[in-house]
Amino acid sequence: MKENKSYYIETFGCQMNIADSEVVAAVLYDAGYSQVQQPEAADLVLLNTCAVRDNAEQRVWNKLQHFKGLKKKHKPLKIGILGCMAQRVGNGFEQSKVVDFIAGPDSYRNLPELIKQTSSEAFASALELSRTETYEALLPRRIDQSKLSGFVSITRGCNNFCSYCIVPYTRGRERSRNPGDVLNEIDDLQQKGYKEITLLGQNVNSYHQEEDGQSTGFTGLLTSIATQFPKLRIRFTTSHPKDISDALIETIAGHSNICNHIHLPVQSGSNDVLKIMNRGYTREWYLDRIHKIKTVIPGCGLSTDVFAGFPGETEADHKASMSLMQQVKFDSAFMFRYSERPGTYAAKHLKDDVPEETKIRRLNELITLQNQLSLESNKNVTGKHFDILIEGKSKRSDKDVFGRTETNKLVIVPDNNYKPGNIIKVIIGSYTSATLFGKAI
Ligand code: 5AD
Ligand code: SF4
Repeated sequence: MKENKSYYIETFGCQMNIADSEVVAAVLYDAGYSQVQQPEAADLVLLNTCAVRDNAEQRVWNKLQHFKGLKKKHKPLKIGILGCMAQRVGNGFEQSKVVDFIAGPDSYRNLPELIKQTSSEAFASALELSRTETYEALLPRRIDQSKLSGFVSITRGCNNFCSYCIVPYTRGRERSRNPGDVLNEIDDLQQKGYKEITLLGQNVNSYHQEEDGQSTGFTGLLTSIATQFPKLRIRFTTSHPKDISDALIETIAGHSNICNHIHLPVQSGSNDVLKIMNRGYTREWYLDRIHKIKTVIPGCGLSTDVFAGFPGETEADHKASMSLMQQVKFDSAFMFRYSERPGTYAAKHLKDDVPEETKIRRLNELITLQNQLSLESNKNVTGKHFDILIEGKSKRSDKDVFGRTETNKLVIVPDNNYKPGNIIKVIIGSYTSATLFGKAI
């Protein structure tokens, strides 16, 4: 039987979670639920959560306080926690008295059932992790408003077990979707008018599928996509430095529709730290990969993740992270301070011994350095020509529009009746560390 109810969903954390919210939207749509944009108008509020750092979890607890008030005013409202934090905190949510049900990342097919269970007032949970669930044959329902750039998840879970990371525990073992399913989903996006897709996986390079005696790896999948969809801009994230191959780098260089941008999280520039993190590569290996990328794909956009204050990180280790950043000259970076995650190897075996003030100071040093590097990187492209994909009006002025280069730089240009989805040629005139300003040529 179809429900005639409405739901509101809010997504926290990574792009993978945005893709998962689209899976949830498809499941709920099939069960008769309609999506609303205001929690006040909903019968059901869903928070799709992230557990990667404590501050991501705090944001969710704060949100729950807000919804507690809403629930007091509107008793039938049900609140569900989805995603990594549901998986990690589990029945801890029952005590909050606000949450009606929780569902981990592999339980979204069960959502309609789970919601029904809550009508008997009981707290309901579905936390089974699966070795096989890839939401096969389930076409995600696009919930972003732009209808321009879509996420396509190609692998789920992670087998790497970096010692600081909660993901293998919250998302389970790695599995890949079958190539036919992936290609269908991209075809669907193209037919809906999308101009860009981003292939998603915790470690996209380890994509692997056997079908009818044929095996497909990431490079093979990427090649098929680039060949079948010559008009789409293709991006992917996240690559792991230990297995980004020469073949992959050459494939990116060989297809003009695969964007020249690689996000390659380094995490630390110190070999001692990388070893205890269980990253599976050294500083030298990482720098060799960067060298290969810069040689084969000149001008390739490069970004990274790096964090300060891992257990035992010395001042020399921290300086090694800074010198690596300086050597690579990343265009941009996501920077964090270490947050101990219960249940991980680091939480069990390593003392979180870098004082909070030191973590903050080191993080600020990383940020200051990256701001300089981003500024330099933008300075280096002034006077250069790029194709940019227009995304919409500039947030500062409606006389301007913004778009992205294939290297993932944000460019603002005066509007000339451009529509989202147009690709225009621009020359870069000026810059800040975060933005380029150009004009059409
Ligand atoms: N503490 C701080 N940062 C972390 N990340 C993952 N786990 C932690 C943690 N425990 C960062 C890594 C990863 C990004 C998604 O989040 O840099 O690449
Ligand atoms: Fe994404 Fe990791 Fe956060 Fe889960 S814990 S939402 S996989 S970043």
